[in-house]
Amino acid sequence: MIRRELLLAVAVGLAAPAAHAQETVKIGLILPMTGQQASTGKQVDAAVKLFLAQKGNMVAGKKIEVILKDDTGVPDVAKRLAQELVVNDKVAILAGFGLTPIALAVAPIATQAKVPEVVMAAGTSSITEASPFVVRTAFTLAQSSVPMAEWSIKNGIKKVVTLVSDFGPGIDAEKSFTEKFKADGGTVIESLRVPLRSPDFSPVLQKAADAKPDALFVFVPSGAGAQFVKQFVERGLDKTGIKLIATGDVTDDDQLNGMGDVVIGVINAHNYSANHDSAMNKAYVEAFRKANNGLRPNFMSVGGWDGMNLIYEALKKTNGATDGEKLVAAMKGMAWESPRGPISIDPETRDIVQNIYIRKVEKVGGELYNVEFATIPNVKDPVKAAKK
Ligand code: PHB
Repeated sequence: MIRRELLLAVAVGLAAPAAHAQETVKIGLILPMTGQQASTGKQVDAAVKLFLAQKGNMVAGKKIEVILKDDTGVPDVAKRLAQELVVNDKVAILAGFGLTPIALAVAPIATQAKVPEVVMAAGTSSITEASPFVVRTAFTLAQSSVPMAEWSIKNGIKKVVTLVSDFGPGIDAEKSFTEKFKADGGTVIESLRVPLRSPDFSPVLQKAADAKPDALFVFVPSGAGAQFVKQFVERGLDKTGIKLIATGDVTDDDQLNGMGDVVIGVINAHNYSANHDSAMNKAYVEAFRKANNGLRPNFMSVGGWDGMNLIYEALKKTNGATDGEKLVAAMKGMAWESPRGPISIDPETRDIVQNIYIRKVEKVGGELYNVEFATIPNVKDPVKAAKK
């Protein structure tokens, strides 16, 4: 090799990795892959992988690289991981977040680094206010709790006991359900809470039974529904005539089919059912199951799927520019079809606007599903709407 060629080869060899690095957009995906919330991590990760498999890893001339980190469900761990992803890996976007305290712990880092924080799986209303860089594709608990209260009153339920997990989304569910139910003429006899970590439902279920309400309104996070239902039956509450009403977190597609026939007839409100009747959802469920050993996608998975779609469409709008402020500006007001139905990002609050469906658990083709029978279209987060 003559000297000129050698120099050229060296120059190309040196330049190539730098140019490559510049063309790669890294997304730091922080999820609870182990611990109590592991089913959420699994669902969101599977949806992100399916999105990449179907849409490819190139968008707006950039190569997308997703770096998955397990926060184990612990906020301090998530915070450290977010810092490392921003400082060492130079991610352009932080995404995931399977629990409210984790989304909140990472928000100051998003603000400081000016990096979008795409919240795919946490539902406390206030999360979007924790940083101007938060954009949510998940849901809020008030979105499903308020329609549940409205339906209950219209269907003859007058006295309710509420039972929620004692942290952000549970408190939002309790408060928003109670406010709407009371405003429409109902009475909340008792408001019961259980700890997020290793909850024992027996004592509160006894209290609920003693109070003799028309219905028990329940929120527990995705992954805890089956255990709740088991104790509901063990305590004999299914024999008391007290109706079970819930947010769809309880009758979660991830666990529903294993809950048993006792949940048939349970009315609940939520943003997504694997049984949602659309061509897009049928294709989504089929592809998801095929890629994941038959696993049924749940509402957490669509938060992940739509979070990736939001990132891709924002990058198209910025022509591949990764400046955080530009990306968030591009995300505001964006609208698209999701497996859950039509959705958009409220340009004022950066929160999700979506249909809420009233559903009844039914047996379809031998399996339990949440079957939608009424739609409340384009629901904005009621907590933020009330503040205006
Ligand atoms: C949350 O932490 O915000 C959260 C977790 C699980 C749910 C809903 C909300 O099902």
